[in-house]
Amino acid sequence: MSVLVAYGSTGGGTAEIAAWIAGQLRAEGLAVHLEPAAEISTVDDYDAVVLGSALYAHGWHVDVRRFVHRFAGRFTDRPVWLFSSGPLDRSADTGPVPPIHHAEAALRDLPAREHVTFGGRMTTEAHGWLGRVAGQLAREGHAGDFRNPERVRAWASRVAADIRSVPGRDIRG
Ligand SMILES: Cc1cc2nc3c(=O)[nH]c(=O)nc-3n(C[C@H](O)[C@H](O)[C@H](O)COP(=O)(O)O)c2cc1C
Repeated sequence: MSVLVAYGSTGGGTAEIAAWIAGQLRAEGLAVHLEPAAEISTVDDYDAVVLGSALYAHGWHVDVRRFVHRFAGRFTDRPVWLFSSGPLDRSADTGPVPPIHHAEAALRDLPAREHVTFGGRMTTEAHGWLGRVAGQLAREGHAGDFRNPERVRAWASRVAADIRSVPGRDIRG
């Protein structure tokens, strides 16, 4: 009996948020499998799912979009939560951010219970094209780490409580 935490991340910031979520769920007694969305071949073994994506050009990471396409309709009897990570300012912490169209589609198609947006991170240590973009953003004053581990863990704690209260299942690890 376990919870899948799957994610799509290019620069590693969203991967770390997924790890914070997985750590919180484990701390609250749940069995958790943490893996990139691209590596997931089956969802049959999981009783609940948390799926998260980095935001690029107002869209989700391609691996997360593929996950949604592949497993659409498979969660009518199992709860799913979604998160996005992107804004390079404090906006995600100061008010609700409307879901982007990929998140709206996933809420409907998986289906999922809830979507939340967390702040993002742009580090000038990134390699390749991301590093070049990060350098440009840094020169414009936009680089930085706007993730909020306390908020992420508080959200994960709510998810853990909801998972434990899913009727008819005992999915404590
Ligand atoms: C080319 C580019 C486009 C981006 N587009 C968006 C966007 O549309 N919305 C947003 O909130 N953040 C956007 N971001 C910020 C990223 O989502 C943020 O840096 C995030 O933490 C990246 O996650 P990752 O490190 O897991 O790849 C963009 C960043 C880059 C480099």
